[in-house]
Amino acid sequence: MSESATAPQWADSSRGHGRWIERLIGIGLLRRPLFFQARQLIIRTAERNGIPWRKRRSELRDAAAPLLTESRDDGLVPPAYYQARFHAYEKGNLCWQAAAEAEQATDAMALRIWPNEQLSPLQAQNRLRDAIHAVVEPLLGDPIEEVLDLGCSVGISTQALARWLNDRADQRRLKRPRLMGLDLSAEMLAVARVRDRNSLISEWLHAAAEHSALPSDQFDLISLQFVCHELPQHATRAVVKEAARLLKPGGVLVMVDQDPDSSVLKNLPAAIATLLKSTEPYIEEYFSLDMSATLMQAGFRDLRITACDPRHRVIACLR
Ligand SMILES: C[S@@+](CC[C@H](N)C(=O)[O-])C[C@H]1O[C@@H](n2cnc3c(N)ncnc32)[C@H](O)[C@@H]1O
Repeated sequence: MSESATAPQWADSSRGHGRWIERLIGIGLLRRPLFFQARQLIIRTAERNGIPWRKRRSELRDAAAPLLTESRDDGLVPPAYYQARFHAYEKGNLCWQAAAEAEQATDAMALRIWPNEQLSPLQAQNRLRDAIHAVVEPLLGDPIEEVLDLGCSVGISTQALARWLNDRADQRRLKRPRLMGLDLSAEMLAVARVRDRNSLISEWLHAAAEHSALPSDQFDLISLQFVCHELPQHATRAVVKEAARLLKPGGVLVMVDQDPDSSVLKNLPAAIATLLKSTEPYIEEYFSLDMSATLMQAGFRDLRITACDPRHRVIACLR
């Protein structure tokens, strides 16, 4: 059942223009040109907005390639749902191209939030993360010792957490926390290592968020940012359950993703909605999952749901 009776109609393939969008992207011959158009549009817009997409792609790829072996757990078998076509990449997140373009794509996403303001990519990224942290802050106790960023990708969310929590610890004269980033893509983790020039992060772990094999009751804070819209519902349930196992009693989970109540998302132009839906295979499952019920079933309490910007919401809750 949908949590919000008014989640974006374009994501619902059973009614309205969501139905014809689904039919359109169901036509195999159209999919490839749609993906191509989506990519071109994203890259052109990003470069116009000060994100050196292609230049950065080769820099990151060259610097990260030698770090791939140490980033990979050869025994890890990625779940079948993860190997779907994502974001216009044939092999989804499991490729160099996705990893070497993730930083640029994340900055482009941050810039899209405030289209009418003249922000640099860094200003937009900081504003996005600061707003998330502000929602979580009132739930945190002291000290924060162990932090896990599930679905850390190339480490943008992880490093933002580190900067925030290190400052917070310094202000309180407490020991800085230990941060760990976890992701299913070894290529993303290799890029994360390159980007973590100041070694703010203690460990980059190649694992599935739903089967981390980490000990129970270990973490004070777990972050799950912009991951669930990439997951089928069964995987979201499993990840949230694993987060509950990994958190200490009283620990905090922060989940950030697209806001089903966002009027910007509801009113996306049909062409953009079609491109988005064609590159996000699980977006419909994401919007139709009752996230509050899912969290409470996993054992979370005191849910605080806050729109952190015009497109996204934070759900912060306690174990
Ligand atoms: C959009 S990125 C998240 C980016 C990052 N958290 C941020 O806020 O900038 C989603 C990431 O989740 C990872 N991911 C998807 N499913 C996963 C799973 N089951 N376990 C671990 N990582 C997963 C993908 O590899 C990808 O790097």
